[in-house]
Amino acid sequence: MNQARGIDHITLCVENLDAAEFLFTEILGFEVIWSARDVGSDKSSMDTVVVQRGTAKVALMQGRDKVMKSQISEFIEKYGQGVQHFALEVDDIDAVSREWEAHGVKFSGPVKEGRDGFGPLKQRFTYSLFPGSGIFIELTQRQHGDEQAKTFVRSTVESLYKDIERDQASGIEQTIIDYDSFLIPMEKKPLKRAS
Ligand SMILES: [Fe+2]
Repeated sequence: MNQARGIDHITLCVENLDAAEFLFTEILGFEVIWSARDVGSDKSSMDTVVVQRGTAKVALMQGRDKVMKSQISEFIEKYGQGVQHFALEVDDIDAVSREWEAHGVKFSGPVKEGRDGFGPLKQRFTYSLFPGSGIFIELTQRQHGDEQAKTFVRSTVESLYKDIERDQASGIEQTIIDYDSFLIPMEKKPLKRAS
């Protein structure tokens, strides 16, 4: 089995990017490592600031509504401000994709290959983890060489944005698995007391 290296980053949808940046930098001790304005399409877009403390990276995103409502604004309207996705870094994104697909996992698009100043980067995004919840998983595969790849690339952010915009326009709300086709134990089990 292909193991995961760890959580690459977590992405939060926020209503006020300046306030969120202030919170993370001035109060919580993170540093800004990347930012971009108006990422997306001519229909809607977003502004983003990526902050880091040690190896912990958090992407903050605020929507810009144009012809249509931004997916970020729509996310906040439905679920409130908070975590939109977390990225799991793996060594072989194609192998993990195949493993998950064999288990019934559905992705919102194919593996995307981006490139930054240091080399290639692959990403793939699942649909929502739970019915009625917006949170999803991103798979990330990076090159680890002498120079560390930058985490965020505008082109890959834009291509994710377009996938979500497409689903948003179609009005389809999809989940990571087809919950109806799985026999999932739903009854509550008593929690075991730690001894
Ligand atoms: Fe991400």
